[in-house]
Amino acid sequence: MHVPNALASLLPLSLLAAAVKLPAPSGPYNVGFTQHIFNHTTPNDPTPGPGNIYLTSIYYPTRATPGPNTSVPYFDPTSARIWGEVFNILPADLESLETTLQWQAPLLTAEEDVDKVKTWPTLVFSPGGGMNAGYSTSLLSELASQGYTVLALDHPGEAPYLSLPYGNPGVVGWDIYMPYSDELIVEIYEFRRADMLALLCPNGYPALVELNGAYFNTEAYGAFGHSTGAAAATGAMDRRDSIVAGFNIDGGLFGDSVNASLHGRPYFMTMNPNHFAQDADTWPAFAERYYNESKIAPGWLDWTTVEGSAHLAFSDIPLWVELLPQIPNSTAQVNLGNVTGSRMDALLKTYTGAFWEFVRGGQYNATLLDGEVEEWPEVVFDAKVRSNGTQGY
Ligand SMILES: *[C@@H]1O[C@H](CO)[C@@H](O)[C@H](O)[C@H]1NC(C)=O
Ligand SMILES: *[C@@H]1O[C@H](CO)[C@@H](O)[C@H](O)[C@H]1NC(C)=O
Ligand SMILES: *[C@@H]1O[C@H](CO)[C@@H](O)[C@H](O)[C@H]1NC(C)=O
Ligand SMILES: *[C@@H]1O[C@H](CO)[C@@H](O)[C@H](O)[C@H]1NC(C)=O
Ligand SMILES: *[C@@H]1O[C@H](CO)[C@@H](O)[C@H](O)[C@H]1NC(C)=O
Ligand SMILES: *[C@@H]1O[C@H](CO)[C@@H](O)[C@H](O)[C@H]1NC(C)=O
Ligand SMILES: *[C@@H]1O[C@H](CO)[C@@H](O)[C@H](O)[C@H]1NC(C)=O
Ligand SMILES: *[C@@H]1O[C@H](CO)[C@@H](O)[C@H](O)[C@H]1NC(C)=O
Repeated sequence: MHVPNALASLLPLSLLAAAVKLPAPSGPYNVGFTQHIFNHTTPNDPTPGPGNIYLTSIYYPTRATPGPNTSVPYFDPTSARIWGEVFNILPADLESLETTLQWQAPLLTAEEDVDKVKTWPTLVFSPGGGMNAGYSTSLLSELASQGYTVLALDHPGEAPYLSLPYGNPGVVGWDIYMPYSDELIVEIYEFRRADMLALLCPNGYPALVELNGAYFNTEAYGAFGHSTGAAAATGAMDRRDSIVAGFNIDGGLFGDSVNASLHGRPYFMTMNPNHFAQDADTWPAFAERYYNESKIAPGWLDWTTVEGSAHLAFSDIPLWVELLPQIPNSTAQVNLGNVTGSRMDALLKTYTGAFWEFVRGGQYNATLLDGEVEEWPEVVFDAKVRSNGTQGY
């Protein structure tokens, strides 16, 4: 909130929760942000949403400098109330979170900038089940600051509340405490995958890029996601050769993503320790099949576990908990493991950063990608596959 000083002195203090900043992106660029509502029908959409649209948020590099009136808010008031209750944080405190995103800031114009980033794959992100894509803002901002264009998908009606841009009314979705049956998780996986595939169709993102005369890459994509979103990214990879690599952030292999054939495209999986127990029959078989395929072909797969982490720790949520005060005398009911927000934030930025840098043909950080390192003792390797069976599973 930007309030002139004279006015500020008249307002009750409680309205002026000091802005709390997410960790700053570390790349050479600042970050622009825009959103677009695409028309796309989900047959028999199980959510209470309209079933005929999905929202894409676009994070992209810019040379514009953030000003006091350009920052995109992190939380809308409705979501702050809903999520604050779950994590014992006052809505006003959640609303005090500040992004470095600049609404519709100018694209890069300098030839040297554009030439550098225009061939990098456009990264497509799908959030965890029931979560808004914006709850990975820290990671998505970081990747954009490095030079990537990042597309993040929201399916209106799935998250408890999704605000929509351009004066459209927000969409109330499933109750935050609603349990998901196994069948429903597969349905979510399927509409998420369909949204991602629709986005990559000629009349989706490529048409939008052409309309705006932007330099963004519409030939090669990287797919990634958290939880169900990671399964959606994997299922989409199976169906689109234009997705050149995938990064799975603590995602079970729901639905037919378990059988996705990656044909040697690079794939990084990282999970919390409990995931192994929950998905004991999917991840090992997936890695083994990948290994089998790579014995006579290219291939690159890393499979890691983050010791001490829990499922929701692979998002901004532990940052909310670390940066903002807890409501007194309440205890968080949600398990985030024994990791901290800033540590998980840095960890995810480091590993996704190194992975996408390798995929786009930049430096290959063998120290980080080929095994355990001193700086990240909590990251342990479960399996590693390289071309022609040169590294075992
Ligand atoms: C989506 O459909 C509505 C009408 O149903 C139309 O007004 C709108 O322009 C369409 N949006 C896009 C991006 O095509
Ligand atoms: C920010 O505010 C200044 C001063 O009111 C104004 O000149 C400028 O156009 C604003 N920028 C944006 C992006 O709204
Ligand atoms: C995956 O493939 C196996 C073997 O072909 C098949 O039995 C199984 O039904 C498939 N699973 C899904 C969810 O498609
Ligand atoms: C991988 O190959 C081995 C040896 O050919 C075979 O026994 C195994 O079933 C294969 N695994 C998968 C998941 O396809
Ligand atoms: C966090 O939990 C893991 C087990 O999941 C354990 O190995 C590690 O020592 C714990 N770390 C701390 C600081 O308690
Ligand atoms: C919180 O708990 C402490 C100790 O149990 C108690 O002294 C204090 O009054 C409580 N504060 C509130 C706001 O309930
Ligand atoms: C590669 O990763 C290691 C381990 O995190 C780090 O110390 C090193 O600085 C990285 N190298 C480059 C070139 O980024
Ligand atoms: C894998 O095998 C193919 C075909 O024999 C070969 O062209 C390629 O260089 C090999 N890759 C590696 C990393 O050994």
